[in-house]
Amino acid sequence: MADLTLSEVDRLQTKEYWDERYQKDEDDAKFDWFKTFADLEPFFRKHIDWARAGELRVIMLGCGNSILSEELYDEGLKNITNVDFAETCIEQMKRKYADRPAMTWHVADVRDMAAIGSGEFDVAIDKGTLDALLSYTGSVWDIPDDIKASGWSYMDEVHRVLKPGGRLLYISYRQPHFARPIIGREYWELTQETIADPKGGFDYFGYVMQQ
Ligand SMILES: C[S@@+](CC[C@H](N)C(=O)[O-])C[C@H]1O[C@@H](n2cnc3c(N)ncnc32)[C@H](O)[C@@H]1O
Repeated sequence: MADLTLSEVDRLQTKEYWDERYQKDEDDAKFDWFKTFADLEPFFRKHIDWARAGELRVIMLGCGNSILSEELYDEGLKNITNVDFAETCIEQMKRKYADRPAMTWHVADVRDMAAIGSGEFDVAIDKGTLDALLSYTGSVWDIPDDIKASGWSYMDEVHRVLKPGGRLLYISYRQPHFARPIIGREYWELTQETIADPKGGFDYFGYVMQQ
C-alpha cells in the first residue's frame, strides 16, 4: 500500500485529494494501490464465472489508474464499466484504453451511480475504494457516524446497480471485525477469505457479497 502522511489519511475520502493526486500523474501513469491481478487471480477465478466471461457485465468501483481492469479484460472479461469520481483519472484512462472499446470509463461518485444504471451488473469489484471512503485518523473501533453512513450509502448503491444474483468482490486490508459492520447488509450474504502474502507480509481479505 502507498505510504501516507497522517493528514493524507484524513483526505483519502475526499474527491479533492484524488483530483490533486491524479493531476500530478503523467498521462500513462499506472498504480495499483495494493495487490496485483497476479496476487488476486485465484480469488477472481474462484468467484467469477469465467466460462461466461464474454457475457458478464462487470463494474470496477473506484478504478483509479490501476491496471486491474486491463488485466481482467485481457483475460476475457471484456465488458467492464469503470467508475471513479476523479475526472483527470477517467480522462487519462479513456485515452489510454481507446483500443479496448468494450471497456468504458465514467466519472461518478460510487455513492450515487444513478447515471450508470440499475440492476445490470453481474459482478462489482472494489479494490481499496471502500477503504479510502472509510479512511480517517481516529480509532477503527469507533468509526464516526457520518463515515459509517457514507459506507452504507455506497453499499446500498452497489446493491442497486447489481443484478439479482450479482455479487460484490471487495479486496481490502481491513480486517473482518472492522469491515463487517459496514459491508454486512441484510440484502446480501457475506463470506470472506484471507489472501495471504506468500512473502510473509500482512494478510489482505477478499470479501464476497452475494445477493
Ligand atoms: C485507494 S484508490 C484504489 C484505486 C484502485 N482500485 C487500485 O486498486 O489501485 C481509491 C480510488 O477510489 C476513488 N474513489 C474514492 N472515493 C470515491 C467515491 N466516493 N466515488 C468514486 N470514486 C472514489 C479514488 O479516486 C481512487 O481512484
